[in-house]
Amino acid sequence: MARNDQKAVHLPSPALPVGFRQFATQVAGHTFEATNAAAVGLLQDSVAGCVLKPLGKPECEVRELNFYESLASAAVASTAAGAMAEAKAPGDNDLAALSRHVPRFYGHLKLVVNQREHTFVRLEDLTSGMQQPCVMDVKMGRRTWDPMSSPHKRQVEEQKYVICKQKLGLCLPGFLVYLPAEEPGKTVVLRHGKDYGKSLNVAGFRQTMGIFFNASTSDSKTRAAGSEILLREVLRQLQEILAWFKRQRLLHFYASSLLICYDYARLSSESQPPPSPLLNGHHQHHQCSEDPSEWIRVRMIDFAHVYPAEDGQPDENYMFGLQSLIEVVRSILYR
Ligand SMILES: Nc1ncnc2c1ncn2[C@@H]1O[C@H](COP(=O)(O)OP(=O)(O)OP(=O)(O)O)[C@@H](O)[C@H]1O
Ligand SMILES: [Mg+2]
Repeated sequence: MARNDQKAVHLPSPALPVGFRQFATQVAGHTFEATNAAAVGLLQDSVAGCVLKPLGKPECEVRELNFYESLASAAVASTAAGAMAEAKAPGDNDLAALSRHVPRFYGHLKLVVNQREHTFVRLEDLTSGMQQPCVMDVKMGRRTWDPMSSPHKRQVEEQKYVICKQKLGLCLPGFLVYLPAEEPGKTVVLRHGKDYGKSLNVAGFRQTMGIFFNASTSDSKTRAAGSEILLREVLRQLQEILAWFKRQRLLHFYASSLLICYDYARLSSESQPPPSPLLNGHHQHHQCSEDPSEWIRVRMIDFAHVYPAEDGQPDENYMFGLQSLIEVVRSILYR
């Protein structure tokens, strides 16, 4: 059963190239539209574990492609220089270090969708391998307009998601989460888009984060083991990203997001009591011993508005949002 705030839309299937389909777990951003053949959303690649993101307007296309290509060449330069003890370009280390926090990039390609040609980037699917993917897109920063924006665009951006954006430096364009149903063993899917995000105040934002992490009703004493692992791992990954932002003086990110993904199937299996050693023997492989980063991924996405850092300053705008997000997750973990 699915609950959501978006009217059921029956899209006439877009004409897609063979081997591609619409990406079912896209929660925000540009999507296919029933009445606009030019609107294109993410595609799932027939190559396992990849998605194709359509690049937007020409200037956005250049910036996003440039971003992924610079990261790829910094990673190569960093490895080669490391192996040959050579000097690298300034900032290569910081760029190479950023690769761990963004989806892997597999180049770009042109595809014809609905009789029009579009450029796509091929990226690692951050939900790959997840049986019941829970996905949240959190847009970062109080300021979501870039230095090239027109006064009109700036005004439009400033009027969106006003409360959460100004108070927390965060906004919530969409999420999808599996939750336990009343009937034992069953789940419901809760899915919300940008209208829901725009309606939130700070308390609503915090409450929604609790729901997304399947921790809305639990405190630190009664919380299931899986939820605890989830919150700690999300916090760990967020703190690593913050550590990168504190070091770097290269880039400023506008209207960029963090995508938080986890597998509900693993969350609920972690929540089961551990199997009895008598019944299962010493060699039973229990999931608790596995690395949680296999089923919990926090990554930066959406680089259509990345600019060189103004005057070599840190990206305070992004860090303000990131620090609030860390505080919100921490408050759920320690309540
Ligand atoms: N690598 C990825 N793996 C899984 N899902 C992804 C990935 N990249 C994007 N998505 C999904 O697609 C949505 C939109 O992505 P993104 O924000 O990059 O596009 P957009 O907002 O349409 O882009 P733009 O602002 O450049 O026009 C995300 O909210 C997420 O659900
Ligand atoms: Mg986006």
